Amino acid sequence: MTKKISAGKKINKNLVNVVNILNNGEYHDGNAMGLQLNMTRSAIWKYIKKLVAYGVAIDSIKGKGYALSEPLILLDAKKIKKKIASPLLIDVFESIGSTNEYLKSIKTTKLPLVCLAEQQTQGKARLNRKWFSPFAKNIYFSCRYPFKKEVSELAGLSLVVGLAVFKTIQFFGIKDSLFLKWPNDLYYDSKKLAGILLEIIAESHDGLSHAIIGIGLNVNTMEDVNHQITQPWTSLQKILKKSVDRNEIVAELLKNILNHLNQFEQEGFSPFMQEWMKSDCLMNKWISLKTLTEKLVGTVRGINEQGQLLLEMANGRTYAFSAGDVTIMK
Ligand code: BTN
Repeated sequence: MTKKISAGKKINKNLVNVVNILNNGEYHDGNAMGLQLNMTRSAIWKYIKKLVAYGVAIDSIKGKGYALSEPLILLDAKKIKKKIASPLLIDVFESIGSTNEYLKSIKTTKLPLVCLAEQQTQGKARLNRKWFSPFAKNIYFSCRYPFKKEVSELAGLSLVVGLAVFKTIQFFGIKDSLFLKWPNDLYYDSKKLAGILLEIIAESHDGLSHAIIGIGLNVNTMEDVNHQITQPWTSLQKILKKSVDRNEIVAELLKNILNHLNQFEQEGFSPFMQEWMKSDCLMNKWISLKTLTEKLVGTVRGINEQGQLLLEMANGRTYAFSAGDVTIMK
């Protein structure tokens, strides 16, 4: 049975305008906001209700109006594009099933195409897990990128993307305790900060291999209200102790990703290998590796030129693996 893709809703300009007015932290009267935005008071109320339904905390006091309980900066494609030299298409959704599924479902010649969402209702993680995607808190990013390469030549791509995310996080001031975990997770102090879901369309309509690069980065989430996350996690705000404008991060992330993809396309994975190993948290660790068919234990001996994990097993021999879920053993 094919899974139904839930259609996306592009970000509503009126909703953005309402948030921009509220964003100075003061109370705003519905009538005055309506006059300012050329909308009725009840239209303003409709957008306030929508924000509340998305989980945004809004105070309302009779006679004073509405105020945001904490600052809220929505994603803004124009703001992001201004910081990037190469022309790019960026679609921003208010809510969508999954940004990866959306980019997989479209046929377009205008690539690379980037999709961002304020909320995902069916956010996907590796190994059929779900990705917690609350409204306007974090980055849910996907990029569809065409490669003039065979699928077999894309080995190592997910590690190259992981390095781009790693550099982006470092740029915002996080240097210590940040690690890459094979194949492409990012951990801070043993807590998950970001994950990557790479999907490949082998021969797309233009005959090229397209990569759908999905990145989830925890930015301003402070609590997991309904205990939806099943592993230790953290966010940039938790680490930096201040909220971060996601537009700034997406711009930096895009610069790093596009640079890395360009270099990967020309030179393959080998130029990234040493850099990746410098930040690898698994080197010489005793781990268990769960693949689709088996569970193995061994000691990690780094990665090879294809980005495969090298695992030394009990028989003293070292084997290379392309996929799997790693758990560090005590
Ligand atoms: C993982 O850690 O297993 C990967 C998580 C990837 C989550 C991102 S969020 C944007 C993109 N859309 C999805 O549905 N998933 C990826």
